[in-house]
Amino acid sequence: MQKIWKLYLILEQCILNSTGDYVWLDLKTGREFEVPIGAVVKLCDSGQIQVLDDEGSEHWISPQNATNIKPMHPTSIHGVEDMIRLGDLNEAGILRNLLIRYREHLIYTYTGSILVAVNPYQLLPIYTADQIRLYTNKKIGEMPPHIFAIADNCYFNMQRNNKDQCCIISGESGAGKTESTKLILQFLAAISGQHSWIEQQVLEANPILEAFGNAKTIRNDNSSRFGKYIDIHFNKRGAIEGAKIEQYLLEKSRVCRQAQDERNYHIFYCMLKGMTPDQKKKLGLSKATDYTYLTIGNCTVCDGRDDQKEYSNIRSAMKVLMFTDTENWEISKLLASILHLGNLGYEARTYDNLDACEVVCCAGLSTAAKLLEVDSKDLMNCLTSRTIITRGETVSTPLSIDQALDVRDAFVKGIYGRLFVWIVEKINAAIYKPPSRELKAVRRCIGLLDIFGFENFTINSFEQLCINFANENLQQFFVRHVFKLEQEEYNLENINWQHIEFTDNQDALDMIAIKPMNIISLIDEESKFPKGTDTTMLNKLNSQHKLNTNYIPPKNTYETQFGIQHFAGVVYYETRGFLEKNRDTLHGDIIQLVHSSKNKFIKQIFQADVAMGAETRKRSPTLSSQFKRSLELLMRTLSVCQPFFVRCIKPNEYKKPMLFDRELCVRQLRYSGMMETIRIRRAGYPIRYTFVEFVDRYRVLLPGVKPAYKQGDLRGTCQHIAETVLGRNDDWQMGKTKIFLKDHHDMLLEIERDKAITDKVILIQKVVRGFKDRSNFLKLKKSTLFIQKTWRGYYCRKNYSTMRAGFSRLQALYRSRKLHQTYHVTRRSVTQLQACSRGFMVRRAFRHRLWAVITIQAHTRGMIARRLYARLKGEYRRRLEAEKMRLAEEEKLRNQMSARRAKAEAERMHQERLAQLAREDAKREKKEREEARRKKELLEQMEKARHEPVNDSDMVDKMFGFLGTTNSLPGQEGQAPAGFEDLERGQAQLEEEDLDEALPLPEEDEEDLSEYKFAKFAATYFQGTSTHTYMRRPLKQPLLFHDDEGDQLAALAVWITVLRFMGDLPEPKYHTAISDGSEKIPVMTKIYETLGKKTYKRELQALQGEGEVGHKKNSVRHKLVSLTLKKKSKITEEVTKRLTDGEYTVHGNSMLEDRPTSNLEKLHFIIGNGILRPTLRLTRELCNTLADKISLRDRFGFSLYIALFDKVHVDTH
Ligand SMILES: Nc1ncnc2c1ncn2[C@@H]1O[C@H](COP(=O)(O)OP(=O)(O)OP(=O)(O)O)[C@@H](O)[C@H]1O
Ligand SMILES: [Mg+2]
Repeated sequence: MQKIWKLYLILEQCILNSTGDYVWLDLKTGREFEVPIGAVVKLCDSGQIQVLDDEGSEHWISPQNATNIKPMHPTSIHGVEDMIRLGDLNEAGILRNLLIRYREHLIYTYTGSILVAVNPYQLLPIYTADQIRLYTNKKIGEMPPHIFAIADNCYFNMQRNNKDQCCIISGESGAGKTESTKLILQFLAAISGQHSWIEQQVLEANPILEAFGNAKTIRNDNSSRFGKYIDIHFNKRGAIEGAKIEQYLLEKSRVCRQAQDERNYHIFYCMLKGMTPDQKKKLGLSKATDYTYLTIGNCTVCDGRDDQKEYSNIRSAMKVLMFTDTENWEISKLLASILHLGNLGYEARTYDNLDACEVVCCAGLSTAAKLLEVDSKDLMNCLTSRTIITRGETVSTPLSIDQALDVRDAFVKGIYGRLFVWIVEKINAAIYKPPSRELKAVRRCIGLLDIFGFENFTINSFEQLCINFANENLQQFFVRHVFKLEQEEYNLENINWQHIEFTDNQDALDMIAIKPMNIISLIDEESKFPKGTDTTMLNKLNSQHKLNTNYIPPKNTYETQFGIQHFAGVVYYETRGFLEKNRDTLHGDIIQLVHSSKNKFIKQIFQADVAMGAETRKRSPTLSSQFKRSLELLMRTLSVCQPFFVRCIKPNEYKKPMLFDRELCVRQLRYSGMMETIRIRRAGYPIRYTFVEFVDRYRVLLPGVKPAYKQGDLRGTCQHIAETVLGRNDDWQMGKTKIFLKDHHDMLLEIERDKAITDKVILIQKVVRGFKDRSNFLKLKKSTLFIQKTWRGYYCRKNYSTMRAGFSRLQALYRSRKLHQTYHVTRRSVTQLQACSRGFMVRRAFRHRLWAVITIQAHTRGMIARRLYARLKGEYRRRLEAEKMRLAEEEKLRNQMSARRAKAEAERMHQERLAQLAREDAKREKKEREEARRKKELLEQMEKARHEPVNDSDMVDKMFGFLGTTNSLPGQEGQAPAGFEDLERGQAQLEEEDLDEALPLPEEDEEDLSEYKFAKFAATYFQGTSTHTYMRRPLKQPLLFHDDEGDQLAALAVWITVLRFMGDLPEPKYHTAISDGSEKIPVMTKIYETLGKKTYKRELQALQGEGEVGHKKNSVRHKLVSLTLKKKSKITEEVTKRLTDGEYTVHGNSMLEDRPTSNLEKLHFIIGNGILRPTLRLTRELCNTLADKISLRDRFGFSLYIALFDKVHVDTH
């Protein structure tokens, strides 16, 4: 054993400390309710271990503190439905299991047959009709843990086994006992399936009980202040037949006193909220805040509770349970009187040196008296004085204010306590039908015990003693049951269990209530003893039990509390008020007062007391003995039942969902007695597996063991595994269907299994990883090869193409160089040839020129010499003539005068003539020099012009200038430019022609094209007398008809321009010498401008009407001119004159331009109008017309015609 334990520890450490492992972390804070917390290992590489606990806190564990962590059993990691199966069957294991399930809203968990229910503090969707159906007729464990599973098992066990069942629901206040009870009741009502009246009555009993017995406390908004046992009776068919309710220990003190933030019983608040004003008036009631008994806790409302609605529920439930209206009213009267009594004001007085008091608030007193139907004086006396009988005499002694208050409170508690008892009896009267003899055998019942759990407050009083006494009893019952179950299991499985021991609480129970001179009997005795006080009672307890291990006496004589070692821990009880509470008797005066009442109801509830005489009353059973008796009765009832246990756990003190207070839960687990189950289990064989489970779980420990379903001898296999792993002689046992193990066996098996599985896992991992890596490697290799292949191919191809390109370049270079060389050689030869040829030609030309120059020079010199000779000769001749003339004149004059004078005169005249000659010579010389200078200048100009850039327009002007710029009249065009000299001849010929005559028709083709003849077209479409022949005059109207006046005008303008182009009309006279810059604007732009003129139409109209009016001629002309093109005119004076004379002014159609235009501009104008005004249709007609003229006139004109025709042809198509 020792060896195994050591091995276990070693292995434990071995399997620890790997990341992701779950461990138990013992923080060792030393707190009472601190247990190890579950944690997961986060880091364990650096020597220290980092863990994250269940609450989300991180901890670092040093190697020295390694014992603080223990490995977690696999069953604890994710939680189990039945905690008995936990490997870590301890408080920490249970707590963690509850915690992880609670976080998943799984509030129910089993511990064997016990159901642990953690209060969710929220409505979960697990109580629906569907859920009820799901859980009906199922075994425990078949479905997830649920309160319905318990209820269902109760019901079907009862029916199957024909045995009474009970369900013991325990837990702290607010843990959910009452809710669980109601859920069971609801389930039973649902599956018994009758929906009978009685069933309804049973269900409706709860609201009434809760109204009178429940109150808001700081722990629970609907805390049951009494214990109850509901016995539900079922008939043979399993339908609810009736029920009986037993109540235990109502907390009567609450009627008079409540802790801070707590309320009195619900019924008071409901009544004050729900009653009509009329009813309240009759009872003299107002609102809750007006009553001392309702405001001591400073709380009159309860969140989430509608008192008014509750009141109507209570009233209807009371109706269902046969409460008559009178009874209801009487109950209300009693409750109202309680409230009024609570409001009584007392004042201290002293009578005959005795402390006395008086009630000062008489209104409340009289109302209370009226409601109780007693005399108010009697009531007053009762509340302020006491009657004592001494030696047969009745003496009334006043009560001190404190005593009086106690009496009042005792009276009030007496009324309420008895009222509660009466109500329970009344309910029982409605729902309980005592069985007849024959029925008794067939009637079965299910008892539901909703009783306060173990209590241990800072100050515990008599009530806590009773409550804890009850819990000791229940624990005893529970332990015996659990042990019995264990025994049964061992018996069933043929396990030797004799040596299994367990500790139960029998000793404590003996000391409290069983053995002679027990604590309860001592308290009872002292209560009856006239001189008994709480101190004498404590002394007696001390002397009697001080040696008992379960008794803890006070430390000194001043202390008033003693302690008891309960199963759930030590509780110290404060003895002050013990006896009074235990006596629970009302003073004779009060009973007398009640007796004197005219109210039957109050008499009825005090019936027992009234019936007793004063002496019997004194001997009447104390509270503890009553409680003990009812408890014995209860235990007896329970002992014949098959029990189920529900342990309710409150997860936090704040009534909040999803909040889990570990220490609070540990405390409840400890007090719930659940650990007893565990202890009993631990004492025996806590771990048990069915053979199938065992084989399937641990077959890995032995090689070659097949799964359970393939096993023939499961038991043998189990035994074999256990013997091999655990050893033959260890304390484990084989049952009939299960194998029974101790904790350490399980741990050892688990560790071995873990190791074996780890080995297998490693093997599998090894193989899988090998396979994975191999296949990965092969994949990678394949991919790599592919990439290499592709890359190499690509690289080589790239290299090849680069090299190829390089070679091509090289070739190209080589070839080019070769070509270059050849070219250069050739070029040089050619150049040489050229040079030689040119040299030759130049020399030849030079020679020719030289010859020419010499010839010219010779001729010129000859000419000059001849001219000089001629001049000299002329001069000589003139001188000779002058000499002759002198002689002649001298001769002539000799006749008239003397010879000498005649000679002188003749000489003078001769000299004059010589001077005249000399002047003429000088003049001629000057003229010649002038001429030479002019020629020289012209030459220079020409030379300069040669080097200037040529302008299109100027070039055309230069080329066509001869047509009309210098002289526009036919035959006066001037000198043709170089290259067009041949035109001169044509012109010369033309000069002989009669231009006014129609031009001869072109020769007809052989083919008859008359249909398409222009002549025919003209004859058909031309307006007026116009024929197809070219006319050198401006038109009076357009050749063709145009709708649009603009088009008409444009047609006329075009015709004028055509005439000018053809040189048949002179250019307009020079308009202005100042350039307006218009010549620089492109002609097309001007056309666009002209077409877009707004005044166009008006101008035309003006023009149309202008013909007759001679004096407006100029302005009309002006307008027409505005439609044509403008340019500086070089028109001659003559032409201007002719124009102004109106030679060319034809009616309405005379065209004047105020500037001449170049032929190119004219051409642009004509073509532009043709393009932009398709309606003009000047295309063919114009071309044909022009053709007639142009073809005859010159080569250039013809080429122009072709160009025009092409353009027009394209446009018209
Ligand atoms: N199963 C449940 N589902 C939802 N809420 C619940 C459940 N059980 C209990 N509660 C909540 O907890 C509150 C307290 O429950 P309950 O009155 O049953 O406690 P108790 O154990 O009877 O307490 P006390 O001992 O004071 O009577 C209920 O009012 C309810 O709000
Ligand atoms: Mg309750």
